[in-house]
Amino acid sequence: MQSIQSYIDNHKDRFLNELIELLKIPSISADSAYKNDVLKTADAIKISLEKAGCDHVEVCETEGYPIVYGEKIFDKNLPTVLVYGHYDVQPPDPLDLWNSPPFEPVIQKTDLHPEGAIFARGACDDKGQMYMHVKALEYMTANNELPCNVKFMIEGEEEVGSVNLAKFVAANREKLTNDVILISDTGMIAKDVPSITTGLRGLSYVEVEVTGPNRDLHSGLYGGAVANPINVLTKMIASLHDENNHITIPGFYDNVENLSDAERAEMAKAPFSLEAYKKSLDINAVYGEAGYSTNERNSIRPTLDVNGIWGGYTGEGAKTVIASQAFAKISMRLVPNQDWEEITDLFKTHFERIAPDGVTVKVTPHHGGQGYVTPIDSVGYRAASKAYEETFAKTPIPQRSGGSIPIVSLFEKELKSKTILMGFGLDSDAIHSPNEHFGVWNFLKGIETIPWFYKYFTESFK
Ligand code: BES
Ligand code: MN
Ligand code: MN
Repeated sequence: MQSIQSYIDNHKDRFLNELIELLKIPSISADSAYKNDVLKTADAIKISLEKAGCDHVEVCETEGYPIVYGEKIFDKNLPTVLVYGHYDVQPPDPLDLWNSPPFEPVIQKTDLHPEGAIFARGACDDKGQMYMHVKALEYMTANNELPCNVKFMIEGEEEVGSVNLAKFVAANREKLTNDVILISDTGMIAKDVPSITTGLRGLSYVEVEVTGPNRDLHSGLYGGAVANPINVLTKMIASLHDENNHITIPGFYDNVENLSDAERAEMAKAPFSLEAYKKSLDINAVYGEAGYSTNERNSIRPTLDVNGIWGGYTGEGAKTVIASQAFAKISMRLVPNQDWEEITDLFKTHFERIAPDGVTVKVTPHHGGQGYVTPIDSVGYRAASKAYEETFAKTPIPQRSGGSIPIVSLFEKELKSKTILMGFGLDSDAIHSPNEHFGVWNFLKGIETIPWFYKYFTESFK
């Protein structure tokens, strides 16, 4: 398959321009003001799949944003690869921290990306990575290199919990039958250290509300005499971790799987520099659960983090006031075997129990999902590993990620197939942050590697 390189060389400017057009549409699923843009993006994906060689493409309506489904089935006896990705993006705020507007993509060189990187919201997560699959399909169909059947399922609600995709999958098991699911929506260790993601964390996301007096009060007349909801909320939140940074919710760790020393030693072999890590974040020390390394803390251990907290006066100057209410959004990253609904219940019970007299507490669950781990001896993993060997001349390292793609465990449950996570992003790509970007090199390397996966995966069925 030498010609994939020349095909990329001949077409890379067009590939990049097409991706840039896609990145110009602000498909922010969380913000209803962008509804038309999200819908417009679904149509653009449909057209791109048709052009890339799908025989049949449809925009499937849901109660929320549509799912773009495409397929090329030419021999029912051949295996089928199901590609999943998402066309929605995170909100771009805070806007003033972007060096160029989030929906006006520019290609700029960086230290890590001397070939240039595309700066735009969604460049890496996930439009850029999803589009690698569209272009890999284009290459395979244009050059008679597609060795098996392929289905695409690209959704528009990943960043808001994939609620309608879950329903769609459960209702369309027949249509979605496949032999392996292939996703590029994660990262790799470094440009010269290819890796395959073998685990994702689960998630429970909740919002809490603490209510004290029935109205905002003068902090001189009432301060010290009534519960201040902001004081109380911060105290409650602080109590959720002990001095070792263990989470204090009773039962929280009950189902957490403890890795053997051998497994932990294997994990510790992945190249990692604590100094470089601290430097990249401008911090003088790392922080976390006692007894675990940084890489363990962000992959095999569960966490609890406040994502936002508000209440009272935050405008200019000073206002002496005790707010009637205080709020926070809290996420818990979970590891396999921790059931997200169970954890949500444990949180709710505990949080309500620790509320002092003088306030009332309301816990509202948002969304969540189960974690995922996949073995490295599956047919799909081996095919992916061989694909990286072709294009990186190195065996990829299996690595568990700290991020979540809740739909993956649901795929396994409903469709009974394994997911292979071939991510080409880097941690420094700033996904969900200002100045998100995706290396041009990474984008093209992904397009180059994917067809090898199809080849080796199909061969293992013969
Ligand atoms: N692509 C990310 C998840 C990810 C990124 C996994 C990097 C591993 C490495 C995905 O779009 C995402 O942001 N997921 C959310 C969860 C979702 C329910 C909003 C997350 O992890 O916060
Ligand atoms: Mn994503
Ligand atoms: Mn994301």
